[in-house]
Amino acid sequence: MIEVRSLTIDYGTPSAAVRAVETVDFTLEQGKSLALIGPSGCGKTTILFALAGLLTPTAGRVTIDDTPVTGPRRDVALILQNAGLLPWKTVWQNANLSLLLSHDYPRRTADAVLDELGLEEVKDRFPAELSEGMKRRVGIARALSTSPTVMLMDEPLASLDTLTRERIQDLFLMLWEEHRFSLVIVTHDIAEAAFLGQKIIVLTPRPARVKARIDNPKLGSLEYRQTPEFARTVRLLREELER
Ligand SMILES: Nc1ncnc2c1ncn2[C@@H]1O[C@H](COP(=O)(O)OP(=O)(O)OP(=O)(O)O)[C@@H](O)[C@H]1O
Ligand SMILES: [Mg+2]
Repeated sequence: MIEVRSLTIDYGTPSAAVRAVETVDFTLEQGKSLALIGPSGCGKTTILFALAGLLTPTAGRVTIDDTPVTGPRRDVALILQNAGLLPWKTVWQNANLSLLLSHDYPRRTADAVLDELGLEEVKDRFPAELSEGMKRRVGIARALSTSPTVMLMDEPLASLDTLTRERIQDLFLMLWEEHRFSLVIVTHDIAEAAFLGQKIIVLTPRPARVKARIDNPKLGSLEYRQTPEFARTVRLLREELER
């Protein structure tokens, strides 16, 4: 379970501080999903970095399973916008990077995950030889390779065309149902938030504060995009973002 209590984060020095996040509260039970949506520059990545233990809160606290987050944890995976692939390593090496770099993880490889993501046939290629959608899938494979219990994603599918984006969202939904990690996804995309977030938090412009909380409990099937509940969530999100 993830708990975020009165989270406030300032950048800069105490005399010249830039407040990025202000008194944000939320909880997420193990195995559930949360989408964070808000205008550009509002503080979404900052919140995600605090969950990942890469930033220390100015005030408030973040706990995972009742333990304060004070640094990166091996059961938490983070996927960044550009997938962070190393160009000189192959798909297989990129997918196994976390495992190769750390002795903390059990000795096994990401082959099954590559298979699941449809990357088996390109595992010896280099990132430059892949489509944008494939690169994002390699990033997802790497994150899954460590069997995380918490998955943090920062705009993982930004700048993909709509159909590629939806296919990877479908794939991601299936992986989430199978692996049951807790998911926090940051996105600009209303449909993506409605398809993947059981809870959705709309944030204000900087500093990020909680503007609205929308429950979206019916998601979980590929057909969800065609349902009235999905349409309702999309409408509510649009109203909140425009308000
Ligand atoms: N290291 C830093 N020093 C000072 N200000 C920063 C720093 N990093 C981010 N900021 C500021 O904090 C605010 C929040 O940044 P953040 O990256 O969290 O926004 P975001 O919501 O992720 O934006 P985007 O949607 O564009 O990715 C921004 O206004 C940004 O300019
Ligand atoms: Mg960001």
